[in-house]
Amino acid sequence: MMKHEKIKNIFNTPELVGQDVEVKGWVRTRRGNKQVQFVALNDGSTIRNLQVVFDMSKFTDDDMKQITTGSSLRVTGKLVESMGKGQSVEVQADEFEVYGKSPEDYPLQKKGHTLEFLREKAHLRPRTNTFSAVMRVRSALAFAIHKFFQEKGFFYLNTPLITASDCEGAGAMFQVTTLPLDNLPRTEDGKIDYSQDFFGKPTSLTVSGQLEGELGATALGEIYTFGPTFRAENSNTPRHLAEFWMVEPEMAFYDINDNMDLAEEFIKYCIKYALDHCREDIEFLQQMYDKDLIERLEFVLHNDFVRLSYGEGVKILEASGKKFEFPVHWGTDLQSEHERYLVEEHFKKPVILTDYPKEIKAFYMKQNEDGKTVRAMDVLFPKIGEIIGGSEREADYDKLKQRIEELHIPDKDMWWYLDTRKYGTVPHSGFGLGFERLVLFVTGMQNIRDVIPWPRYPKSAEF
Ligand code: 4AD
Ligand code: MG
Repeated sequence: MMKHEKIKNIFNTPELVGQDVEVKGWVRTRRGNKQVQFVALNDGSTIRNLQVVFDMSKFTDDDMKQITTGSSLRVTGKLVESMGKGQSVEVQADEFEVYGKSPEDYPLQKKGHTLEFLREKAHLRPRTNTFSAVMRVRSALAFAIHKFFQEKGFFYLNTPLITASDCEGAGAMFQVTTLPLDNLPRTEDGKIDYSQDFFGKPTSLTVSGQLEGELGATALGEIYTFGPTFRAENSNTPRHLAEFWMVEPEMAFYDINDNMDLAEEFIKYCIKYALDHCREDIEFLQQMYDKDLIERLEFVLHNDFVRLSYGEGVKILEASGKKFEFPVHWGTDLQSEHERYLVEEHFKKPVILTDYPKEIKAFYMKQNEDGKTVRAMDVLFPKIGEIIGGSEREADYDKLKQRIEELHIPDKDMWWYLDTRKYGTVPHSGFGLGFERLVLFVTGMQNIRDVIPWPRYPKSAEF
């Protein structure tokens, strides 16, 4: 039996020319005349279609009628150098089999559908050039993330998805329950009786694996998590998802400067990996969507990120004379428009902002001597805004406990976390990278809903 060759392999293996090959895939187009017909076949392994040539002295019109756009096909034939423009090799079909026909109502008949249209056909959109390219880049980036941390000796730690604590304290959590919502059990004082719930208490889907990541780092030294996280914030923006993937390294004995160094090295490594391994896909996306894509990626690779404090950043914004939708002064949380001004207009480089006011950051961040700021760090990127959020962690038991009390976080949720500071505490740091924001940056796509296969956002959980 002939070995089935992936189309990517066909293009990359010159020794196959002159040999009989078997290829399998989906039909993108068919065209031609009574003498010869051409089928563009794609199997998802590469952005490039393989041209299959049907000599019509060997096939009938009825044979060819089965080969419609979207149908799935197995073809055998000789691989030859192509005379035609635009492809290096082609297959001269000897024999074919249609696995599955694709009737005329196949939604991806024509090229050039809008991204909005394709979002409604997200079950089929991976079969388009754009989405297959994005998904291949996404896969390569996921691999690069593991490779980077494994090469550095970090351990991959799996943290729970169901949790009883709120890491970010933002209150944007999806509740997890098996209680009957139409007939909730009540306690004597009328409250919901969570003792009857599956876990015996209220639980939610996690917004971050960080707190458990810290348990790992204060035992294994350097760990990373990489998994799904969930946020029920009602943000209908091109940069927010309700379900997204986060990479969270957490390192014992790192201060905030070590943390920034790691973040910068990490992002550059991932971008370089994608440029080295997904060149054709990135070139395709550049051509289709974003003329400056490769230039921007190279630029990030070859420049040091600017590092400055939140206070300095706010001064620049105030002095800019620019009218922002949200006014900015010391103490306000920065909006995407502010972040992008600093990155795209002022510095024209990625920026790491540090030392934010403690009121706008989470409870676990290390408090600075000034009593006003914490050792937070946000990495801000062109076109994206915040791509990473992290900090040095408060390692002092008393200071952390006091902050938890000030914010009225229940002790019963935090006792285990506080134990890391009680028993052998160490300076430590970590950060979270929004994986889809990285994919957004590397692919040049505009909307985060187009860089995850089946996005979850308000009022949308189809597919
Ligand atoms: O800044 P965030 O909220 O930080 C944390 O959750 C920390 N616990 C991370 C840590 O220190 N271990 O989120 C981290 C990153 C953001 O910078 C952003 O890239 C991404 O996660 N992110 C989202 N991505 C898509 N959709 C959303 N709704 C996101 N919210 C945050
Ligand atoms: Mg953040």
